[in-house]
Amino acid sequence: MSTAAFPASPGPSPVFVTTAYGGPEHQKLSHREIPAPRPGEIGIEVRAAGVNPADAKRREGLFGTSGPLPLAMGLEASGVVTAVGEGVEGFAPGDAVLGSPARGLGAFAAHTVLRAADTVPKPETLPFAEAATLPVAGTTAYDLLHQLPLAKGAAVLVLGAGGGVGRMVLQLAEVRGLRALGIASEAKRALIEETGAAFVPSGKAAGPAVRALVPEGAAALIDLVGGEPLRDLAPLVADPSGVVSAADASTAEELGGAGRANSGGALAHVTELAAAGRVDPHVLLTFPLDRAAEAMAELEHGHHGGKLVITP
Ligand SMILES: NC(=O)c1ccc[n+]([C@@H]2O[C@H](COP(=O)([O-])OP(=O)(O)OC[C@H]3O[C@@H](n4cnc5c(N)ncnc54)[C@H](OP(=O)(O)O)[C@@H]3O)[C@@H](O)[C@H]2O)c1
Repeated sequence: MSTAAFPASPGPSPVFVTTAYGGPEHQKLSHREIPAPRPGEIGIEVRAAGVNPADAKRREGLFGTSGPLPLAMGLEASGVVTAVGEGVEGFAPGDAVLGSPARGLGAFAAHTVLRAADTVPKPETLPFAEAATLPVAGTTAYDLLHQLPLAKGAAVLVLGAGGGVGRMVLQLAEVRGLRALGIASEAKRALIEETGAAFVPSGKAAGPAVRALVPEGAAALIDLVGGEPLRDLAPLVADPSGVVSAADASTAEELGGAGRANSGGALAHVTELAAAGRVDPHVLLTFPLDRAAEAMAELEHGHHGGKLVITP
């Protein structure tokens, strides 16, 4: 970690926002004063920001429409500390870090503010782009896999295995010595098999294919898709409490399972594994901040095989 002083550049700072809740037509590049950290917060110059389905859901108002507009977009970032708020210990200007923006200040921006409690140092071996995919996608993968008591060798089905979260679930399953089966479209076969998991093509034939591979029933189904594909595969889990979903908690609960249980330590653990090369977020495309709308369009297309990252 570098400790060299890092000067904050003065003046308006670009930020990608939505001016209304709804479709992508409301998104635009805007400017604001560099946000200052409050107590318990860390100001950063953003080096990279991960793009997630939650960015589109938030813009569309699926998480509520009462927040002030314009709404700064982006939920995970890596960058270099420019200022620390009162009471923050262990971070100093010049440190490379990754974490989650505070107060809805967004990550698709040249500067933002992170919650110190959800921020960790960026290991030198981990590039900024990869680091920026861990506060949301990486921690979700870690939590989903660790909220269940799974014995070594247990069979774990991963639905949506070729996506940003799913592929990290497969890699983490390999670290835990589990037997992972990745369910995804044919185009994702290589991405799945590279992790050491078995590939199962998604669609109506997925159920019979899984049943043939795991006739005794799987120990867990980790779902990143929801809806009908989740309902179709849930009966293949021996005990319904082994169904966990980041995409559709209500259907998982209805089936006897659960949504994601957020744990405190996931970011530190998954960052350590990524730095050691055991988890590779697979950054597929990077976009400069003035092309953030293209990154969102690519995300909303829905079938990219890897993480999309904005690099201001
Ligand atoms: N609760 C949380 O804290 C939390 C955090 C992160 C993510 N999430 C949610 O988790 C989900 C996945 O996130 P992500 O970042 O991994 O998204 P992503 O990168 O867009 O991946 C989603 C994957 O779903 C697959 N898929 C889509 N329709 C499918 C179907 N009918 N059958 C099988 N696979 C299908 C796609 O693969 P193919 O092209 O192979 O079909 C795609 O790879 C999203 O709903 C996201 O909002 C929740």
